Amino acid sequence: MKITSFPEYEQAYKKSVEQPEQFWKEIADNFLWRKKWDKILNWNFTEPKIEWFKGAKLNITENCLDRHLETMGDKPAIIWEPNDPTEDHRVLTYKQLYDKVCQFANVLKNNGAKKGDRICIYMPMVPELAIAVLACARLGAIHSVVFGGFSAQSIADRILDAECNIVITTDGGVRGDKKIPMKTVIDDALVRCPSVKKVIVLTHTRTPVSMIKGRDVWWEDEIKKVETQGNKEFIAEEMDAEDMLFILYTSGSTGKPKGVVHTCGGYMVYAGYTFTNAFQYEPGEVYFCTADIGWITGHSYIVYGPLSQGATTVMFEGVPTWPDAGRFWDIVDKYKVNIFYTAPTAIRSLMSFGDEPLKGKDLSSLTKLGSVGEPLNEEAWHWFDERIGKKKCPIVDTWWQTETGGFMISPIANVTPLKPGYATLPLPGVQPILVDEKGEEILGNGVSGNLCIKFPWPGMLRTTYGDHERCRTTYFATYKDLYFTGDGCLRDEDGYYRITGRVDDVLNVSGHRIGTAEVENAINMHSSVVESAVVGYPHDIKGQGVYAFVVCPNQHGDQELARKDIMMTVSRIIGAIAKPDKIQFVTGLPKTRSGKIMRRILRKIAEGDTSNLGDISTLLDPGVVEDIKAGAL
Ligand code: PRX
Repeated sequence: MKITSFPEYEQAYKKSVEQPEQFWKEIADNFLWRKKWDKILNWNFTEPKIEWFKGAKLNITENCLDRHLETMGDKPAIIWEPNDPTEDHRVLTYKQLYDKVCQFANVLKNNGAKKGDRICIYMPMVPELAIAVLACARLGAIHSVVFGGFSAQSIADRILDAECNIVITTDGGVRGDKKIPMKTVIDDALVRCPSVKKVIVLTHTRTPVSMIKGRDVWWEDEIKKVETQGNKEFIAEEMDAEDMLFILYTSGSTGKPKGVVHTCGGYMVYAGYTFTNAFQYEPGEVYFCTADIGWITGHSYIVYGPLSQGATTVMFEGVPTWPDAGRFWDIVDKYKVNIFYTAPTAIRSLMSFGDEPLKGKDLSSLTKLGSVGEPLNEEAWHWFDERIGKKKCPIVDTWWQTETGGFMISPIANVTPLKPGYATLPLPGVQPILVDEKGEEILGNGVSGNLCIKFPWPGMLRTTYGDHERCRTTYFATYKDLYFTGDGCLRDEDGYYRITGRVDDVLNVSGHRIGTAEVENAINMHSSVVESAVVGYPHDIKGQGVYAFVVCPNQHGDQELARKDIMMTVSRIIGAIAKPDKIQFVTGLPKTRSGKIMRRILRKIAEGDTSNLGDISTLLDPGVVEDIKAGAL
């Protein structure tokens, strides 16, 4: 299934378009199925209905663990680097990981978990997070991992939406010099969540926590019970290829985050195939993805993709700048990392520290680099290439989304000729098209448009949990018979793709997706706020920053205090990741006569470009624009 030359890529691509079912059948044959499929693909984008490998029976953990035991049971599956570099790291071989996953699946079963249950996982980046994810999959329960930076309120919304009955967490977490009271946050969330019957708490920081009788149990005590019971194995639940594997919540342009649903068979095939190809993973290589398992990158390219391919995957608990900005390079040096996959925001941030943090770090083990989450600007591309890759490592700039499950447009390392700033070419099976506002296809090269995909691929989302209509309207209704990505895109003279950013009201802050409507709703919850409008603006490190225009006439205390109050409100409602970078108090917002906020004007002001705001004559009160311009931050 590995492509090793450009002509092979072209051939594979052609086959994937002309005979998609045959193409994916041959890829799927490389995986372990208890029973093969009745049909490779059923689909229409109208409902939408997408089924890959329907009727096939499998368990993804047999592909990630069991099938490797004989040949590489002693090989490291996970290398874990703790937040504090003076503490011991941990290595879990495939056999050890298998044992721990079986053990914890038994814990889940003892606590009432069954196939089809939804289980919320809210944990820091510790090996037990991967173990919990895999144990859910082994038992057939649907995991919903919530990133550690979300607030109690956001967790509660996600638990309620998915009707989770179990939560897995830790007492606390540490990131750099910050402590995160994970269990306390969960306790606050659960006040609103009667569906949760059990909370399994891993001891990590041994921070004092409340443990409620009958509901809260310690991970370690439950493991002891399993040991006493003598349950060493856990026979993996048989899943249909189209049974749900997980839900992952992500932000959109309107309302609450939605639960993107991925299923077992297609997702597994796609994550494994794209991992092996884009990174050209070779047995024995050490691979380090710096993402958090709370995001799709961690799901697909720390856990499922690498493990399904028998890779060694490094998990890091901390942050790139603690204890100093050389931390990633220490890790590369320490474990002789070969493949290093990170985000543009991290690259830009580390770049700003200059060469000092690189001194004395041996990066010679690196052979391939990767980037994800937002456009990788050319300056950062060259720094990454020269200072980290020493001009000998290809950079795979992987464009994809929570909804796509895996890489879509991406170079194949050492196969695809690169171009800085470009995600380059679609992987086999991916059929991108550019359309104009009306949905007309824009043909030819040297053109820009809205990026859509016209044919299904195995890793694509199947629905949004509990609300299929929302899935249809969000992704399949903007343009007929197309999956709409929400991204703008340029196809250059060579047919190379460059993602230019979101065309909807979604911000990309440090590679995290944040809906402007979501932030506005949170700001508007603050008692003195009348209304607000949130837009993005270019930010040197984060890619985009959050700029909030807020109408807040009765402030308690001075403006600075009022700003802090609003920040606190956003932290409480969504989480610290959504806090605005700038808050400008205004007397009114620029609205049309029908009451619609003209965001175009606010975006320009936030970008600091007020020279030409375009036609403002349709505004109800054009005068408000002058006031806003005068107070711009
Ligand atoms: O705008 C694109 C941007 O991130 C969005 C997807 O965000 P999320 O679902 O959180 O997944 C992030 C990790 C896959 C996309 O719609 N994006 C992602 N990768 C790139 C990118 N923009 C430019 N270049 C990329 N390589």
